[in-house]
Amino acid sequence: MSRYRIDPLSSAFGARILGIDLSRPLDGSDAACLVEDLLKYRVLVVRDQNLSHEDHVRVSRLFGEPEIHVQDQYTVPGFRQIVTISNIHRDGVPIGMYDGDNEQEWHTDLSWKPQTSAVSLLYSVIAPEVGGETRFADTTAAYDDLPTELRGRIDGFEAVHSMVHLFERQAADNPAKVPLTDAQRVQVPDVVHPLVRLHPQTGRRSLLLGDMIIRGIVGVDEVESQQLLDQLHAHATADRYVYSHRWAVGDLVIWDNRATMHTASPCDHTRHQRLLYRTTVM
Ligand code: SIN
Repeated sequence: MSRYRIDPLSSAFGARILGIDLSRPLDGSDAACLVEDLLKYRVLVVRDQNLSHEDHVRVSRLFGEPEIHVQDQYTVPGFRQIVTISNIHRDGVPIGMYDGDNEQEWHTDLSWKPQTSAVSLLYSVIAPEVGGETRFADTTAAYDDLPTELRGRIDGFEAVHSMVHLFERQAADNPAKVPLTDAQRVQVPDVVHPLVRLHPQTGRRSLLLGDMIIRGIVGVDEVESQQLLDQLHAHATADRYVYSHRWAVGDLVIWDNRATMHTASPCDHTRHQRLLYRTTVM
């Protein structure tokens, strides 16, 4: 039995956690409830927190071991498990990932790794007044609602996830995008994942998509593959599956990468700053 309160954002997707202070260690029962509530709601919003980097890592460990991101220029000194996400530039150089004004890219974190990630925790330190929301799509409900015939068609399909492909596409849209270094490129060979994934804890199926990171579906011709991916993507990002989080300072949002995908929203860096810190556990 938890001592915090939970306020669902909709009938099944997303919930707000109230009456919790994550800057203090949770007792065993609250910790277990938080893990269970994440499995149930897939996105948890915890407002009004005051977290140090130590706190952020400690809370992350309730869900697994935080990973060190390959783009190590954005990891926090002394806390290599934490990656900076920001549109702030210092001396013309971005201080974090997702630095562009229009970095919309639906994805699940670290899908470019052979083992996909479990959970991410994103904490807001500077919040823009306009724009910069993070949008979350419920890829589990989206899968459940697919027509039976389409589910039958895609079950067993695998897709190629490619960080190199992602960076090439982003550079085409934004020539100022900081490229991967040669050392980073060799650490991110293309990987293959099922298009329909099975959640190891809930046993539910969901779509594993990404509108820029996927090169194509294995064994399906390029045009047909892209048409199918576009169709699934349009379905999974329909408004009925999406929660859009408008950031305030002190928000911590925790999401289950095995059951959702997300994207940043446009934010004009010349007028509005955003600074967040993210951990991702495997
Ligand atoms: C992320 O992809 O983890 C960050 C999303 C955002 O910047 O809103």
